[in-house]
Amino acid sequence: PLPVAPDGALRGRHVLVTSGPTHEPIDPVRYVANRSSGRQGHAIAAAARRAGARVTLVSGPVALPDPPGVHVVHIETAREMLAAVEAALPADIGIFAAAVADWRPVGEAEQKIKKDGSAPAPLSLVENPDILATIARGHGRRPPLVVGFAAETERVVEHARAKLARKGCDLIVANDVSPGSGVMGGARNSVHLVTADGVESWPTLDKDEVARRLVERLAELVDRS
Ligand code: CTP
Ligand code: CA
Repeated sequence: PLPVAPDGALRGRHVLVTSGPTHEPIDPVRYVANRSSGRQGHAIAAAARRAGARVTLVSGPVALPDPPGVHVVHIETAREMLAAVEAALPADIGIFAAAVADWRPVGEAEQKIKKDGSAPAPLSLVENPDILATIARGHGRRPPLVVGFAAETERVVEHARAKLARKGCDLIVANDVSPGSGVMGGARNSVHLVTADGVESWPTLDKDEVARRLVERLAELVDRS
């Protein structure tokens, strides 16, 4: 049986979540990526499902099982993630927890680049589409509630406030991912909820508990929207 609350706060809602890193190919065997584990995004998808929502999870490459009862779309690159997100719309809530690679190598080499005694040509990088900003701004099918994340290594709340405005989302979940924090790849997270109304800082919690509380909060917000 699916782990769904019969009277869950998100029953009848479609929740779209992005999670994990993206991999941007250099050649058939090499890629550019980041340290995201996908734990927080996957925990949110699972919590939304337990709250009764229909959940679509667009996930980059992670070492995690698909959450039960969740429709998971596996992608590798940022461009594939954007296409999968657009294909999954409409949604009542969009939660963009993925650590999307900001840049990708220009043009993937068709064959494995060979070590031939000299250094390879320097990697040229080009900016990836911003999935959150694309969906939050001027998209015909913008979900009524759009939630972004801000992974920062310094001045966390200040950067999150700027991102809230720049990206056009309704709420930013900001966290400190500096090396000492243990957040990247770890089981716990310390988040600040940043909206136009202000900032709410939560204590350090298990990522599952952050997910449960966030889903509870989003259910209240979407009922009011
Ligand atoms: N995001 C996205 N697509 C991108 C980059 C980021 O959807 N190409 C989303 C992330 O999923 C997250 C939010 O935007 O919800 C903020 O991501 P972050 O990396 O913190 O912000 P950036 O705008 O990329 O700024 P920077 O990395 O320079 O801090
Ligand atoms: Ca980024």
